Amino acid sequence: MAEEQRGDAIETFQAAGETFPPDAATVAAANAQAEIYARAAADPVAFWAAEARERLTWRKPFTKTLEWELPFARWFDDGELNVAENCVDRHVAAGRGEKVAFHWIGEPGDRRTITYAELLVEVQRTANALKGLGVTRGDRVAIYMPMVPEVAIAMLACARIGAAHSVVFSGFPASALADRINDAEAKVLITADGGYRKGSFFELKPIADEAMKSSPSITGSIVYRRRQPGTPGETAMQQGRDHWWQDLVPQQSTDCPAEAMPAEQLLFLLYTSGTTAKPKGIMHTSAGYLLGAALTHHAVFDIKPDDVYWCAADVGWITGHTYIVYGPLANGATQVMYEGTPDTPSWDRWWSIIEELKVNILYCAPTAIRAFMRQGEEHPRKHDLSSLRLLGSVGEPINPEAWLWYRSVIGGGRTPIVDTWWQTETGSIAISPLPGVTTTKPGSATFAMPGIAADVVDASGKSVPLGGGGFLTLTQPWPSMLRGIWGDPARFKETYWSRFPGSYFAGDGARRDEEGYFWLLGRVDDVMNVSAHRISTIEVESALVDHHNVAEAAVVGKNDPLTGQAIFAFVILKKGVEATDEFAHELRGHVAKQIGAIARPKFLLFVPDLPKTRSGKIMRRLLRDIAEGRALGDVTTLADGGVVDTIRSNTGAAEE
Ligand code: PRX
Repeated sequence: MAEEQRGDAIETFQAAGETFPPDAATVAAANAQAEIYARAAADPVAFWAAEARERLTWRKPFTKTLEWELPFARWFDDGELNVAENCVDRHVAAGRGEKVAFHWIGEPGDRRTITYAELLVEVQRTANALKGLGVTRGDRVAIYMPMVPEVAIAMLACARIGAAHSVVFSGFPASALADRINDAEAKVLITADGGYRKGSFFELKPIADEAMKSSPSITGSIVYRRRQPGTPGETAMQQGRDHWWQDLVPQQSTDCPAEAMPAEQLLFLLYTSGTTAKPKGIMHTSAGYLLGAALTHHAVFDIKPDDVYWCAADVGWITGHTYIVYGPLANGATQVMYEGTPDTPSWDRWWSIIEELKVNILYCAPTAIRAFMRQGEEHPRKHDLSSLRLLGSVGEPINPEAWLWYRSVIGGGRTPIVDTWWQTETGSIAISPLPGVTTTKPGSATFAMPGIAADVVDASGKSVPLGGGGFLTLTQPWPSMLRGIWGDPARFKETYWSRFPGSYFAGDGARRDEEGYFWLLGRVDDVMNVSAHRISTIEVESALVDHHNVAEAAVVGKNDPLTGQAIFAFVILKKGVEATDEFAHELRGHVAKQIGAIARPKFLLFVPDLPKTRSGKIMRRLLRDIAEGRALGDVTTLADGGVVDTIRSNTGAAEE
């Protein structure tokens, strides 16, 4: 069983590794104390009702907390509020208008500071601009923008007038943008001329134009001008349809009262890939989603009034929605927003920002952490990172080596690490340590959040006792859960609710150790089966990157006539290490030594890079195609198409 294999590896880590209890100062000052678990477990629905009353500002109080007709949940259904008012107006009304909402840094080095009072003005003007383009409550607005503060302003402007946004990541091509616009039948597209990335300006408007050609529902567009003087290029505008943000928005009235919205008003759609080619429009509604965002941001990041918080995700993904826009703004936090990539102009860009703005909390993905590891410690060492108090990880399992590096090199050996498991569908963090409560173990996301019920079940849906592994399920509804897939209730039921009737199936494998800690094993489809032993790809990857000469690794199962599947490893070496057959042999031995001979990769290929989505996830599906020598599947989400060709052109000598 995969679970047993991974379990062996986990026990190896634990035997070798330390655990990290919270220090006394963190415990004493923590927003969330141990009592929260008991309070939530005693009566989850009452817990959520109390949190909803405490954290959100209501126009009309709710009297019904939950209506649950599996799989359709309605939370706080008869209540009314406005999400933008919760994220902006109430902080200004409470006298915190001068507090900074965003310290924004453009990749070329330009800066802006935006207070909550300024945010309120801009959100109202933008909402009025949308109204002027005919957007009304219930409409959908597509947003396709680089990382500028206007992306948050645009989202909040939609929320203010009851329109739902659909943010499409700015790295997607025209066809993907058009598909999403058309599926949602969006009326207006908010975009930009482009943005700065890796030292140059990338054009967005031509892509938006291409998409709009085949998006008949679009009647108008707003185009934010990002191009700086001195950056060459012209942006074509279609008269009658396209409006420069800088012309349209400033002339609007600064008065656009927030309208009271039903709690279950659609707040946004966010498209995510599923097992078929058609992306799923995940639906999130207003009050429940905002509550999940606000509570988790408060409890997991332990945010304090004077903190400077930085979530380094792109707003085009759920992490950016929940932990750049809605959670932090609902909590009135001061944030950093950075436009560009971590290597521009050099690999210490993040660390210099942290030093300069005295960032207290950093939240990023393990892929980024491993990239930093690969570049070497000299970059963070150049900067004073002592302001950091807490570090977060999200998006994929974090291998213990990266966890420990993150804590020691970035966190100075002081900071708690919160490894947060969640999904586009869960809306907010579902499994994570609480920094003042949980003793952490490197590589484990630890426990379900208060008010969330997670289980590990076997193929028949039976709960697996502690010490065992299986499929991760969530067994009770929670406020920030997805409400459906846009236009496809049947797919919603089928994807999430049919495999284990009565529970939400996350699509992930997980194991709980004897102490009940959750260890995520990756997507279930990433689990290999070798000689009837199931082995998680992450387990082998962890063993590979554990070798001091390995920077990154990805592992897939390849069909094998003898053993069912064989392990195929793609390995990126650290700078200066030579890719020789001898070293490949040594590395296989290293894996065998770490987790047993069964996990020894049959195929091992040194590669210069790995195919990743633009959000940084390794596309194992493509690696499986390469390993099998078959035609590639859908590559639209691939960040760099050349990577695959480079890898394919030398798959020859991999076998041992
Ligand atoms: O497999 C899990 C992995 O990312 C998936 C969700 O992807 P997405 O909807 O794009 O959201 C990513 C940001 C929340 C999950 O099914 N995942 C996410 N966080 C973790 C994780 N796997 C292990 N550990 C995590 N902390």
